[in-house]
Amino acid sequence: MVSNIAKLAATAALLQGILAAQAPWGQCGGTGFTGDKTCTSGYYCNSFNDYYSQCIPGTAPAASSSSVKPSSSLSTVIHAPSSTSVKASSSVAPSSSVTAKASSSTVASPTTGRTTCSGTFTPISASAFVAAMNPGWNLGNTLDAVQNEGDWNNAPVVGATFDDAKAAGYKGIRLPVTWTYHFTGSSPDWTVDPVWLQRVSDVLDMITSRGFYTIVNVHHDSWAWADVTATGANLTMIEEKFYRLWYQIGTKLACKGSAVAFEPINEPPGTTAEHGAEINKLNSIFLQAINDAGGFNSQRVVTLVNAGEDGAKTSQWFKRPDAKFKNPWAIQYHYYSPYDFIFSAWGKTIWGSAADQASLEADIAAVRGNFTDVPLIIGEWAASPVATETAARWRYFDFFLRTAAKYNTATILWDNGADFLNRATHIWRDTVAQDILSNAVKGVPNSLPDSTTDASATSQSSSAYIYHQQNASVTAQTLPFLFNGNTLTSATLSTTGKPLVLGSDYAVSSSSITFTAPFLSTILTPTSSTTSLANITLTFSHGASLLVNILQYATPSLSLSSTALPATSADLPIALTWRGATRPAAIKAMKSDGGFLVDDWTQYLGPLQQGRLTYNNHWDWDAGHVILKAAVLDAVRAAGKTTTFLIDFYPRVPGNSVNFTLTV
Ligand SMILES: *[C@@H]1O[C@H](CO)[C@@H](O)[C@H](O)[C@H]1NC(C)=O
Ligand SMILES: *[C@@H]1O[C@H](CO)[C@@H](O)[C@H](O)[C@H]1NC(C)=O
Ligand SMILES: *[C@@H]1O[C@H](CO)[C@@H](O)[C@H](O)[C@H]1NC(C)=O
Ligand SMILES: *[C@@H]1O[C@H](CO)[C@@H](O)[C@H](O)[C@H]1NC(C)=O
Ligand SMILES: *[C@@H]1O[C@H](CO)[C@@H](O)[C@H](O)[C@H]1NC(C)=O
Repeated sequence: MVSNIAKLAATAALLQGILAAQAPWGQCGGTGFTGDKTCTSGYYCNSFNDYYSQCIPGTAPAASSSSVKPSSSLSTVIHAPSSTSVKASSSVAPSSSVTAKASSSTVASPTTGRTTCSGTFTPISASAFVAAMNPGWNLGNTLDAVQNEGDWNNAPVVGATFDDAKAAGYKGIRLPVTWTYHFTGSSPDWTVDPVWLQRVSDVLDMITSRGFYTIVNVHHDSWAWADVTATGANLTMIEEKFYRLWYQIGTKLACKGSAVAFEPINEPPGTTAEHGAEINKLNSIFLQAINDAGGFNSQRVVTLVNAGEDGAKTSQWFKRPDAKFKNPWAIQYHYYSPYDFIFSAWGKTIWGSAADQASLEADIAAVRGNFTDVPLIIGEWAASPVATETAARWRYFDFFLRTAAKYNTATILWDNGADFLNRATHIWRDTVAQDILSNAVKGVPNSLPDSTTDASATSQSSSAYIYHQQNASVTAQTLPFLFNGNTLTSATLSTTGKPLVLGSDYAVSSSSITFTAPFLSTILTPTSSTTSLANITLTFSHGASLLVNILQYATPSLSLSSTALPATSADLPIALTWRGATRPAAIKAMKSDGGFLVDDWTQYLGPLQQGRLTYNNHWDWDAGHVILKAAVLDAVRAAGKTTTFLIDFYPRVPGNSVNFTLTV
């Protein structure tokens, strides 16, 4: 589940019409923010995520817009605010923005000398580095939090978190760091708080002392002050500040060993070749700054970037660094595709068809095809248990990781603290995904639960579950599996470890496992409570162990089925008691005139996707509610039509849905 903090923010009302608007780039909303939520003229308050809204140039996109919504609001819940997703709209970088021209300014030379280190440095090539940190894990939403470590959904990091990552088999850690709130000086020195530099240095020591390779970066500065696409962006200032920042980071970290690599900037916005050229220039300024800072930096591995750390844009616009820089370098890009599956948009809970796989492979192959001789690392990717269907997610993990390996590309999983590792309890929320990851990275074939892959299907099956409807009689259940050359070696009840008996409890064919009615009757009855009753652990000759979740379900009923559209714009929580799976699968919005509330083009999608809204932009949930976001209420207001919301639950089978109507 999404953190409590995220949930609090998700239900917070959006205040409007208050005086004392925020200055350009000022914070105007987010968790714990109590100030005025409006912006000065020419700017609007853009919600990057539940934790942070900022005044950015331009006018707010219409809430009822039927165009594709930006992914950025979901991004930090699932990963980081970004513009990487293929379908992200231009709201972060309004199309009205002035086209950035590569500035002709020269950057000041260092004012303090070069660092000299007493220790030794063991040089490592960029290809050896990225191979050694594969697979990697991101310490997301932590040192990159706005404004301080601890301000988002994660407590300040402790060493035990890296022990957890180590125990799970990770070899590398990416450490995102936001610097923008830690400047104590302004132009031309841009002095960074030494306490913050020390904290970053200390965390890097926590990481490397545990034997990890690590990449440290400049993170959300990319949408604070370093956005070369922003209207009126002062490129001279961005370049000056970028140089000074990296000179200071380079000085502080100059004597770190070769296990520490640098990444100039996270997901720098960019939509044109000119932006791409300016980002190449930032790569170069970064290299100059760290080399000027001295120490071991001239031999340190760097992972260079281009627009959005998007693979296709990087392929188009990335320029190799000047040969005068001797740093071993790799290219880092990020991968959150397909957008609709990863971000739970338009009801896409299905993934894994031949076409889905071919599209993913083509993306990864294209970046490799453009950079045949460059070490590549996907510095962020994820398919979070919060947003994706279980069997589809496991197939995605397996296929994505095997494909990355096929194209000699290392990977670093994004984990915002609410996705995978529960840092407080040290428990991985999806242990099967972790197991699939470790095996896929090593090239070991995993068995996988089969699931619906046909996007035109009217219902979705998933062999990650035995879904049993309350009051139905208990019958034998046959689940299709993709054994991928492995044989099932045991099936046990995960709670007790009690082995199931082949024959009386279950039978195996070449493509399925059947659990017998007598066995299932020991776990569930028609009147069992509507919850997860047990998991069966399946162990195979090779690869990950799988879980089959025996889940009794009934269709939840809502506390009310209809209400008048509220006069003010706020999130609308609808109370319900979950009965089985504890989240919605999708929500369809139909106007009284028969049209869809948003995204009319979804009429061309399959029946499970038509008219569906997008998680987080449009809807959310908590322990006792489905939440329609303020943006949806605004869309109903703009449409002026009574709208019925069909809430689909898991399993996605006919009848497992309820309607809720907003009347106007
Ligand atoms: C742009 O930034 C530079 C360097 O900080 C500064 O000298 C200059 O005055 C700025 N230009 C504008 C138009 O603000
Ligand atoms: C290079 O990248 C572009 C953009 O993604 C892609 O269209 C092209 O096919 C790639 N080239 C190769 C040789 O893979
Ligand atoms: C079965 O596994 C799922 C996923 O790990 C978990 O949420 C659920 O609580 C488990 N059920 C039982 C009865 O332990
Ligand atoms: C099962 O039966 C009980 C008792 O009649 C009823 O309350 C419940 O709603 C039924 N569940 C379903 C899914 O029909
Ligand atoms: C929901 O409402 C739509 C449109 O009025 C209707 O066609 C559909 O049958 C309803 N579904 C349920 C589950 O009530």
